[in-house]
Amino acid sequence: MTRDEARNKIIFALDVNGLEEIDRFAGLLSGKVGMFKVGKELFTSCGPEAVRTVQRHGGQVFLDLKYHDIPNTVAKAMLEAARLGVQLANLHALGGAEMMETAATAVRKEFGDQRPRLLAVTILTSSTEETLRGVGIDHPIRDMVVRLAKLAQNAGMDGVVASPLEIELIRAACGPDFLIVTPGVRPSFASLDDQKRIMTPAEAVSAGADYLVIGRPIAKDADPAVAAELISSEIVEGRP
Ligand code: C5P
Repeated sequence: MTRDEARNKIIFALDVNGLEEIDRFAGLLSGKVGMFKVGKELFTSCGPEAVRTVQRHGGQVFLDLKYHDIPNTVAKAMLEAARLGVQLANLHALGGAEMMETAATAVRKEFGDQRPRLLAVTILTSSTEETLRGVGIDHPIRDMVVRLAKLAQNAGMDGVVASPLEIELIRAACGPDFLIVTPGVRPSFASLDDQKRIMTPAEAVSAGADYLVIGRPIAKDADPAVAAELISSEIVEGRP
């Protein structure tokens, strides 16, 4: 893998506050990471300007708003995400086949090959089997993850967001072309923070991840650009 291919696999989680911080990180990291993830907190406080600030630095955006609503509402929200010019956007697979299909069809119809790639969240990694039982789901998490990934694929979604430990299972069930985006990644030089079931960047890529979502190991480093470059070196070298 080339250095640029490795850089392009890194999605920096913009878990920051305010447009100035976005501006600072997008400036420091453009060219060093492939994409910037804008989530609910940042989008709720700064709105579409959060996306545009990244784009002004030439950065690509993963809009992580995890839509879950009636099909018509989700499809319209996805069309707006596509109009913002983001490269990745997502929804909850638990919203069901019709919700995913309506969104995927609407976005494909208006944007064709220029569309953002649409991802589904299966089961949040913060959920346990007890959480699922509490909402009336009596199946093991691993079964639910595979079931929802296949449902998403059949509904026209381009991929899923998944824990590193679920990559191989999903790759086997959904084939080589289905995108897998994984958080819970920690390079060898960084602390675990609150992440528990982690893989290193090289391990996640060799397990089959297309993109890695990485926040604090880059954001909290004294030199974020150097940290990002160390991560792409780890990926290129396949270390450890
Ligand atoms: O700082 P860190 O690398 O742990 O950031 C990971 C990012 O991925 C955060 O934005 C976090 O909310 C997100 N995420 C996660 N685990 C999930 C889903 C999303 O860490 N299961």
